[in-house]
Amino acid sequence: AKEEQNVGNVKQQLAKLFESALNATVPNEPDIEPLVAACTAKFGDYQCNNAMGLWSKIKGKQNEFKGPPAVGQAIMRNLPQSEMVESCSVAGPGFVNVVLSKNWIAKSLQKMLIDGIDTWAPRLAIKRAVVDFSSPNIAKEMHVGHLRSTIIGDTLARMLEFSHVEVLRRNHVGDWGTQFGMLIEFLYEKFPNWEDVTETAVGDLQAFYKASKQRFDSDPEFKEKAQKAVVQLQGGEEKYRRAWAQICEISRNEFNRVYQCLGVHLEEKGESFYNPYIPEVLKELTSKNLVEDSQGARVIFIEGFNIPLIVVKSDGGFNYASTDLAALWYRLNEEKAEWIIYVTDVGQQQHFDMVFRAAKRAGWLQAEGNTYPKASHVGFGLVLGEDGKRFRTRNTEVVRLVDLLDEAKSRSKTALIDRGKDIEWSEEELEQTAEAVGYGAVKYADLKNNRLTNYTFNFDQMLNDKGNTAVYLLYAHARICSIIRKSGKDVEELKNTGAIVLDHADERALGLHLLQFSEIVEEACTNLLPNVLCEYLYNLSENFTRFYSNCQVVGSAEETSRLLLCEATATVMRKCFHLLGIIPVYKI
Ligand code: ARG
Repeated sequence: AKEEQNVGNVKQQLAKLFESALNATVPNEPDIEPLVAACTAKFGDYQCNNAMGLWSKIKGKQNEFKGPPAVGQAIMRNLPQSEMVESCSVAGPGFVNVVLSKNWIAKSLQKMLIDGIDTWAPRLAIKRAVVDFSSPNIAKEMHVGHLRSTIIGDTLARMLEFSHVEVLRRNHVGDWGTQFGMLIEFLYEKFPNWEDVTETAVGDLQAFYKASKQRFDSDPEFKEKAQKAVVQLQGGEEKYRRAWAQICEISRNEFNRVYQCLGVHLEEKGESFYNPYIPEVLKELTSKNLVEDSQGARVIFIEGFNIPLIVVKSDGGFNYASTDLAALWYRLNEEKAEWIIYVTDVGQQQHFDMVFRAAKRAGWLQAEGNTYPKASHVGFGLVLGEDGKRFRTRNTEVVRLVDLLDEAKSRSKTALIDRGKDIEWSEEELEQTAEAVGYGAVKYADLKNNRLTNYTFNFDQMLNDKGNTAVYLLYAHARICSIIRKSGKDVEELKNTGAIVLDHADERALGLHLLQFSEIVEEACTNLLPNVLCEYLYNLSENFTRFYSNCQVVGSAEETSRLLLCEATATVMRKCFHLLGIIPVYKI
C-alpha cells in the first residue's frame, strides 16, 4: 500500500479541501487562503468563513453570484469528495458548515492507537529555537517569579520539542555585574580558606549577599576593595575568577535542587558567557548607525519609547541590555536559532521590546509578523498570596522555592494516605506519587491561567481533588487505566483486531475532541499559551465523564470499541501531562 503522507491536523486537512473548492469557485482569484475553524455550532464541527470576504473582493467585478450566501453555496458545491466529510450546509451569510464523518474520526483514532501519538505531533516551520527561561540571579533570591518562568518555559520547550523543533533550553543566569566585587571581597574576608568553602559553610547565599551589601554600604575601605575586585575579575585575574566561580557554584547547587524536583532540564549560559561578545556586537550596531552618545553613555534611540536603550553606561561598563543584544546575536548567528523565546515577568516587557526593535533595525530579525527569525517575549503576571499581595510565606520575607515544593509534596502525601485507606503503599511508591501529585499540582495551577494574569498561590485549591486541578485530572486518568485493566482485555491486541465505532453522541463528541489534540498543541505552541492545552485537557476529562456515564463500557455489546476509546483518551491525557511536565500516576 502507498505510504500515507503527513497530512496535518483536521483543520489543515479541511483547509486543503477548501483550497481547491475556492480555486474552483473563483478561478480568477488565486491564492485565497482558506479560513477554516472548529466551531461549536449545532450545524457542524468546522466552518469555512471565506464567503463574505470573497464577496467583497469580487462584487465590483463580473461574476455569477448574487451575494455571500451564493458564494458559500458555490464553495460547498465545489468541495471535493472526501471520506472526512459526512455532510455540509450553508448558514447565514455564507458560512459553510462541515459535519465530519464519524467513521473517519474513528479510523483516525484507531490509526493513532496503532502508530502512536507522536504521529499527531504538529510540524512547525522552524528547525531550532532557543527558550530562555528560569534565569535566576546568582547569590540573589530565586523567587516565585523564577518558579513561574521555570514552569512556563519548560512547557513551551516540551511543546516545541514534541513538534519536532530542536530546543536549546537556556538558563540565562545573572552571574555578572558589579555586585560580584563585593561578594568576592566578603568571601575572602569571612573565609580565609575560601577555596575549600562549601555551601554549608556559607549557608544561605541570600543572607551572605545581604551581609556583604551591608559591609559595602557602611565601610568605605571595603567598598574601595570591592570596586577594585570588580576590575580584577573583569580583567580575568585568576584568584578573582576562582572566587567568582565558587560563588556561582554554590548558587547553582541551590537552583539545581529546584530543577530536580520539577524534573526540568536547562543548560546554563549565563550573562558572563556573552560578555566577550559585547564589544564586537556594539561595533556592528555602531557601524549601522544605531548607537549614539547621550549624556556620557552610549545609547540606542527607539521610536515610540521616551527613554533610549542604554548599551554602555557612563562609567564605560556594559549592562543587562548590552548582554541581551550580544546573547541575541549569538543565538541567531552562532546557534542558528530561528525563534528566540524569553520567559520573564511582564515587568521586563519594555526591555525586550526595545532589544527586539534594535535587532530589527540592525536587520537581525524580520521586521514584521510571523516570519523567521523571530524573537518573542513570553510575559507573565505576579504570584499573589491569599491577601492579594505579592506572595510571601508567613514568617519570612522571601519564599524558598524548595520549601514551597516540599510543602506541596507533604500535603499531597497526607491527602493520599487519607483518601486511599484501602491502598497498600510501599514507602517508595507513596513518595513518588506524592511528588508527582504535589509538584504536578503546583505546575498545573500556574499553567492553567492565562500567563499574563496574576495568579493566587493556594495549596488547598491546587490540591483539591475536584475542579480544574492536576489532582482531579490525575485521578481521572488513573481511573480510565483501571477500567481498562479491570476489563481483563488485552488492549494492545484489540488495537489491531477491534474497531472503534462512534454511534452514540457522547462517543462521537469524545472522539472528535481527541482528534483535535494536534491542532490544540499547535495553537498553544505557536501562540505561546500553555493554558490552551490545560483547557483542552480539562475538557477532555469532561467529555470522557459524559461518555462514561452514558455509555456502558465493560460487559456491553460495544465493549471493544469503548475500551479502545478509553485507551485513546488515556493516551492523549498522558501526552498532555507530559507536555505540561506532569508525571501520570496509576495507583492513586
Ligand atoms: N536574570 C533575570 C531576572 O532574574 C532574567 C533573565 C531573562 N533572560 C534574559 N535574556 N534577559 O529577572
